[in-house]
Formats: sequence, structure tokens, C-alpha cells
Amino acid sequence: MQTPDIESLLTEKRTFKPDPAFVKQANWNRRKAAELRKLGEKHPKRFWAKMAREHVTWFSPWKKVLDWKPPFAKWFVGAKTNVSYNCLDRHLDGPRRNKAAIIWEGEPGDIRTLTFAQLHREVCKFANVLKGQGVKKGDRVALYMPMIPELAIAMLACTRIGAPHSIVFGGFSAEALRDRIEDAGAVAVVTADAGWRRGKPLPLKEAVDNAIENVASVKSVVVVKRCGPEVPMRAGRDHWWHELMADASAKCPPAKLDAEHPLFILYTSGTTGKPKGILHTTGGYLTHVTTTAKAIFDLKDEDVYWCTADIGWITGHSYVVYGILANGTTSLMYEGAPTTPGPDRFWDIIERHGVSIFYTAPTAIRTFIRLGDEHPKSHDLSSLRLLGSVGEPINPEAWMWYHRIIGGKRCPIVDTWWQTETGGIMITPLPGAVDTKPGSGTLTFPGVKAEILSEAGDTVKPPDGGFLAIQQPWPGMLRGIWGDPKRYRETYWSKWKDQKDTYFPGDGAHRDKQGYFWIMGRVDDVMNVSGHRIGTMEVESALVSHANVAEAAVVGRPDEITGTAIVAFVTPTGGTEAGDALNGELRKHVTKEIGALARPADIRFTDALPKTRSGKIMRRLLRDIASGKETVGDTSTLEDYSVLAKLREADEG
Ligand code: PRX
Repeated sequence: MQTPDIESLLTEKRTFKPDPAFVKQANWNRRKAAELRKLGEKHPKRFWAKMAREHVTWFSPWKKVLDWKPPFAKWFVGAKTNVSYNCLDRHLDGPRRNKAAIIWEGEPGDIRTLTFAQLHREVCKFANVLKGQGVKKGDRVALYMPMIPELAIAMLACTRIGAPHSIVFGGFSAEALRDRIEDAGAVAVVTADAGWRRGKPLPLKEAVDNAIENVASVKSVVVVKRCGPEVPMRAGRDHWWHELMADASAKCPPAKLDAEHPLFILYTSGTTGKPKGILHTTGGYLTHVTTTAKAIFDLKDEDVYWCTADIGWITGHSYVVYGILANGTTSLMYEGAPTTPGPDRFWDIIERHGVSIFYTAPTAIRTFIRLGDEHPKSHDLSSLRLLGSVGEPINPEAWMWYHRIIGGKRCPIVDTWWQTETGGIMITPLPGAVDTKPGSGTLTFPGVKAEILSEAGDTVKPPDGGFLAIQQPWPGMLRGIWGDPKRYRETYWSKWKDQKDTYFPGDGAHRDKQGYFWIMGRVDDVMNVSGHRIGTMEVESALVSHANVAEAAVVGRPDEITGTAIVAFVTPTGGTEAGDALNGELRKHVTKEIGALARPADIRFTDALPKTRSGKIMRRLLRDIASGKETVGDTSTLEDYSVLAKLREADEG
């Protein structure tokens, strides 16, 4: 028998049928799901057009559903719409007008509620503020903000006038922010003085000042006063949010934008040192996120929906803001850390606000398991009716804990696989229609076609593992990498030479006999740390930019809580002492260059790194060493066997 490219070792036998009571009220029950699945399989374009008509309000219709010249797609060609109109205006004429759009809780415990009418007013005002700052349709606006309502307001204001936003997660450093602002050519930055994190203000304005020093494109900075520390304001460039808003008109008609008008850029890690600006556009993305949110989270008008992701990541874009508000659903936003002031903060929020749908990441679930069952058990979680998981594979034991302790055995769990690039959910259970198995994302969303392929591009038969492949375009797909069409084609559409329609997400996976998908993790040089993607190359370039580092190689090792932990093998420059001082300094250096999220858990010093004869670092070997495994497989191309032996000795010593 031929050895599969990727071997799958996991065999999970437990199956959970949707609860009959849930099925009865589900937006998509078995019958509806089966019909739509069939339509999606036979006529994907017809399926998505139906979804677009049912879930999105258009100012004018499309001439063509899809224009596909691989790898470039245009969806709903010629149609006009506006994302902020779909999230706000269309809810104002009925009973949703005075319903909460956003329930926000700050880390210190302050609470704000914005109804759809109030949010609409704030968005119109801020759209006028942006115009007043000279921002025009097509201009990019960078948002570097804490999880406060102003972030959602700023995003929606950008969409209202057709200025694509580029949100940079507040945990990224000034250097990382600068790279992203420069690459996008942003003309304005919206930020805050600081945001609360674990009881302390995390400074943001300061980082913006450092980032845009000498960046000519940025003409204006708008600053929300959140925490109150003194921050320097540069006359003519920096403005207080509250001052500009005080004078802004609340009338701002939504721009009638082309379906393919750029909606946002979001940077994500890849296999080189330079992050990729993933570009999403208007009509297809909106159709994808609104449809999936309605079907997968089973959104109803009475729901209080809470996704714990930061808006700085794609999950927050699609399923804190756009997909949720477009459905007229109340979205809860929380500013701070999950364990501040105590380990029960999340459960306390669920109880107090009556959260009915809860969407979080496996890394958070594993942290809560470790903190102890007494914390969730001390709260009334009976308002919950559906749970979701995203960001990384969920191990079956964490799934079972989530099911029992948080879901009270009654809530369906949707384990949703997708990416920054896919825009919306791609592989997922439909909670009223698909049996679940702990650890499996189950099946594709209707209208999405996925398969497991071998290196050669052949379909891999269950249960062998291979590469996950998406075999036809979908409306929420990325439209490109900002400013780099070549990299777009090479990264995503060139894995299988004779299959130009096939998108390669970079994940390994397998299917079981029932056709269920089991995602096994990244197969490229991208690590998934606490559900966040970090490129090994990014951390390596940060390390070698330090004067005392000659060479560095970064790999991931399995970690019980974060999924993957970052391990760096570093060769110091001649004469540098390798020890605790350098270790501490390098960790600080990476934090400065990228952000604390990329700080290595371990740094191991070595005289040399194992390389092939052609000079390529043998990461597979380093991965084995980092995770304490015996080195198996082919080492015949290893340049210097003694290097490997030395690294092992250091490991054991
Ligand atoms: O490896 C997969 C993993 O996260 C990657 C995408 O990361 P990002 O673009 O940051 O988006 C995360 C949130 C959508 C994927 O390539 N991943 C995401 N969701 C799952 C997952 N792995 C397994 N199961 C999931 N449900």
C-alpha cells in the first residue's frame, strides 16, 4: 500500500444527533438543508444567487452571478449595495429599530447599549467625520483600536462611504502597524488613547505615533478617549473623536457601491516574512457572511449572540459585526481579558446578559478546563442554546467538556472551519440538520465544494489524510493580496498544476467513511498559536534583525493550552554569550518587532542549525527536537549530522 502524504491517527466514534426540540425551531432543518445542499451541489451559482436575494438588500441587481477567470473572481457583477445599509438602515423601519444592535461591556464593568437606530446615527456621523478629514471613496483607513463600540462604528462608517478599512489587532507592535499602514497606503488612522487589558491600559496612540513617523500617506489621526491617560496630540494631524463627532451631521446616505468594490484589507501571516493584505469586496462577502451566520448560528430575533473574538481578526469582522448585524441580531462585545477580574468573567457575562449563542476558540476552552469547573458551575448558563468553536482544531476532550459543562448537554456545537482568506465559514455542521462528532467540522456549507487531495492532486480515499482543497469559487473568497497578484496566484492557486480552479488553504485534513472532514492543522510554515496565525518566517526575520543573532529557525511544538507554542533555535553572533540575558532580550525584541503574540515560548541557543546540502534549514527535524520526539524519516540530505546530535544533547542536558 502506498503511504499517504499525511497520516491520520485520530479515530473518534461518538456521534451526536441534533436535539429534536432544536430541530423543530431551526432556521435550516434537515429538509431545508438537504434541498439547499442539493441545489448547491448541482447549481452552485443558482444557490448563491438565491442566498444573495434572500439575505442581502441590493440597490440594483446583478447582470451575472459569477465571472470566473481563475484565479480571479467577480461575484454579482454589476450589482450595487452597501454593507452599512444592510447592517443598519434596513432594520430601522420595523420592530428592530429600538432593539439592541450592540451590547458592550468594558473590562472595568462599564456597559453601553446601542440600538440599531442609535448605531445608525453614530455611523452616519462618523462617516461625515471621515469625509471631513478628506477621506474619499477608495481611500484606505487603518483602525488600531480596543474592543469598544467606536471600532464597530468606524468600520461601518468606512463601508458607508466606500473607504476600505484595514484593521490591525491592538496586540501588534508599532513596527507591525507601520508595515501594514504603509503597505495599504492608509490616509487616516483611527485609534484610542489606550484600551483596558487585565486591569491595565494598553497604550495604542503611542504606538500609532511611532508607527506613522515618516509615513507620508497618513494625513489624519482620530483618537477615542477610552482610558484617560495623557497622550500627545499633534496639531493639524490628530483629533479627538468626541470633538469631531460633536459637530458632525447625522445625515449621510449610504454610497451605492459596486458589488466588487473593496470592502476591507486584513493582514495575515504567510510563509514569508511579509504579511499578506487579504482583500475582500462588498457583495459576495456580505452574502456569504450573512447567509452562513443565519444558517449556522440559527440566528433569531430574540437572540443575544456573543462571539469572543477580537474584531482585529477575521472572526470579529465577519461574526461580531457584519454577518450578525446584517441579520438584525444583537451582538455582544466585550473589551477585556477572559479572566479579569476573576476566572468566571465569561460565565458572569453570559448570565447577566442572557447570552443565547456563544462562539469562542478551543484555546479559550482549554484554558477554562484548566481553571476548573466550579467557575462555570457557579453561574446560570441556561440562556445558552447554541455553541460554536473556531480558529483551530478542537480536541475531542475539549469538545466534550464544552458540550457538558457549558452547553448542559442540550446545546448543539458548531465547529466551524474557515480562514481570513475564505471570508466566511466553509466547513461546519448545520445545527438542526447535521449529526456532530467531537473534533470534526463535519461537512461543507452548501454551495462550497471541498476535497482531500494528494500531493499529486488525486482524491485521497477515506480515511487517509492529505491536503484540504476547495474546488470552486465561493462568494466570500479573497479577491487577491493587496498589491501582489503574483503572490496571490502562487500561494493559493498553484499547488496542483492542472487544477486551476482549486484553492489551497494550507491545511492538512482527512475524511471519514461518512465524508466528514477532520482538519489536522497547517501543513506550511505557519503556526496556529491560540488560534492566531503566525508565520515562522516573520518570527525568524524579527530575531535576525537583532544585532546579536547570526541565524534563527522557528518551529511550533504542540502545547496543551495554546495549541502550538513557538520555539526558536538561535545561533548568536561570534563572541555573544548565549544565556538568560540574551534570551530575555530576544523575547523583548520579538515583542517590539511583531507583538507579544509572537514571543517565543522557548529560545534554544545552538552553534549551528541542521541544513540540507542546498542550505535549507531542516524544520522537520527541529520540530521533532522541539516537541521531544525521536527523529524519524529521511535525514540523508542532512549536511552535518553532528549538528543534530549537538542539538539533542542540549535538549537532554
Ligand atoms: O488551520 C486552520 C485554522 O485556522 C486557519 C485560519 O486562520 P485565520 O485566517 O487566522 O482564521 C481563523 C478564524 C477563521 C486555518 O487555515 N482553523 C480555523 N478554524 C478551524 C481551524 N482548524 C480546525 N478547525 C477549525 N474549526
